[in-house]
Amino acid sequence: MKARIAPSILSADFANLESELKTIENADMIHVDIMDGHFVPNMTFGLPVLKRISQVTTVPLDVHLMIENPEKWAVNYAEFAYSLTFHYESTDNPSSVIELIRSTGKRVSMAVKPGTPFSATTGLLHELDMLLVMTDEPGFGGQGLIPQTLEKVREAFSFRNSNGLSYEIQVDGGVTTENIQELSAAGADTFVAGTAVFSAIDRHSSIEKLRLLASTV
Ligand code: DX5
Ligand code: ZN
Repeated sequence: MKARIAPSILSADFANLESELKTIENADMIHVDIMDGHFVPNMTFGLPVLKRISQVTTVPLDVHLMIENPEKWAVNYAEFAYSLTFHYESTDNPSSVIELIRSTGKRVSMAVKPGTPFSATTGLLHELDMLLVMTDEPGFGGQGLIPQTLEKVREAFSFRNSNGLSYEIQVDGGVTTENIQELSAAGADTFVAGTAVFSAIDRHSSIEKLRLLASTV
């Protein structure tokens, strides 16, 4: 299976976003982290910046909401997204958020933090286009992968196979050229990479390398 690589612009130079986006145009999606300082202890930016990003790139936007009250904001963010991810832990009613995003016609994705067991999500997976298994604690780039999260990727992969489902399995947090093959072997097919792409001198090549490594497992 051809792996998809979604560089996270959290590690980009925010003062030069348009030129930074040009350096990753061979990506399958561009991962955009929206943080509100409440759901996670960090803040990024909101709708006006996301809107401008959508106007200056043709690469589909993979928008990762790390915010409280996703039901209040999901439809607005979906306007500029190809795929919209909300967090299971950010709402009392994940089904209603799924429905809201679905109503926009965009791809629907749900994320789970490292401490949330896979079993919490199983009743919702038939409604999703993608499950995001966080491989570190959401909030910051460059933290490194938590090895225990690989087991959740394996569980998501085997549950999908045994139940005839088709959601994609995305990993986000600490993905590198050293561990991407192991993540792919565990069942991940979509890979977010912040530091691994933006710290490279040749970002284009780093995306190709990650994709090739993950696709040849
Ligand atoms: C932070 C974000 C990630 C982050 C990943 O929680 O969700 O997308 O940018 O950065 P790296 O790849 O550096 O761990
Ligand atoms: Zn993210």
